[in-house]
Amino acid sequence: MTTVIADQISVRGVVRQFAGRRVLDNLDLTIARSEFVVLLGPSGCGKSTLLRLLAGLDLPDSGEVVVPKERAVVFQADRLLPWERVLKNVTIGLYGRDAKDKAKAALDEVGLGGRSNAWPKTLSGGEAQRVALARALVTEPDLVLLDEPFAALDALTRLKMHDLVRQLHQKHGAAMLLVTHDVAEAIALADRILVMQNGRIGSAYHVGLSAADRRSSPQREELRAQLLSDLGLTGR
Ligand SMILES: Nc1ncnc2c1ncn2[C@@H]1O[C@H](COP(=O)(O)OP(=O)(O)O)[C@@H](O)[C@H]1O
Ligand SMILES: [Mg+2]
Repeated sequence: MTTVIADQISVRGVVRQFAGRRVLDNLDLTIARSEFVVLLGPSGCGKSTLLRLLAGLDLPDSGEVVVPKERAVVFQADRLLPWERVLKNVTIGLYGRDAKDKAKAALDEVGLGGRSNAWPKTLSGGEAQRVALARALVTEPDLVLLDEPFAALDALTRLKMHDLVRQLHQKHGAAMLLVTHDVAEAIALADRILVMQNGRIGSAYHVGLSAADRRSSPQREELRAQLLSDLGLTGR
């Protein structure tokens, strides 16, 4: 029952149970530096439980979690402080004289340079998640954990967010672990897709597709069919 801080990301033999039920059952996982991993699984399979362990918000009953010190989490709800303006929401957790400049640069990166003084309640859902991304990246984390960050957004906004997240990943080079139940989202984003089954990583796929092929190609359709089958959703 340990969490180790080191310059690598791995989960070894992790068990996490609630009321005697093993939600994570001897789970193993390794994430390479700068790798974009998407963890796919149906609702209730334990995705958030795993993410919370990696974030340090929870501890395993047994097994080992090894993570880098600098981590950031983005949740489905933006979790912005409503009583602080956008810029202040991004500087929270930052120290030093250049905190404001860093936050402004991060807001520019997510396309919200002009909204520093806005109140969170005046933002659209997509804008609020952009602020959440800026807040995550401004600390220069080695690992970004994203828990269904776009699930509440409309389809078009979600596609725009996918493009943004891939850009940010390429620029910052942090390892990313995004959990989702959305097969299309997994294919759009991942270097590697892991499917959770019975409390473990059931299957894994490297996605060596170009941006265009991720959107439309025979390989995309083949991977999509395979993932749906892994999820027990064949014939849709
Ligand atoms: N703190 C907790 N106490 C009791 N049960 C929990 C707790 N956290 C998660 N669970 C249970 O563990 C299972 C997996 O939950 P979760 O990891 O949130 O699933 P997912 O994110 O894949 O939808 C669910 O059955 C959930 O009810
Ligand atoms: Mg969840």
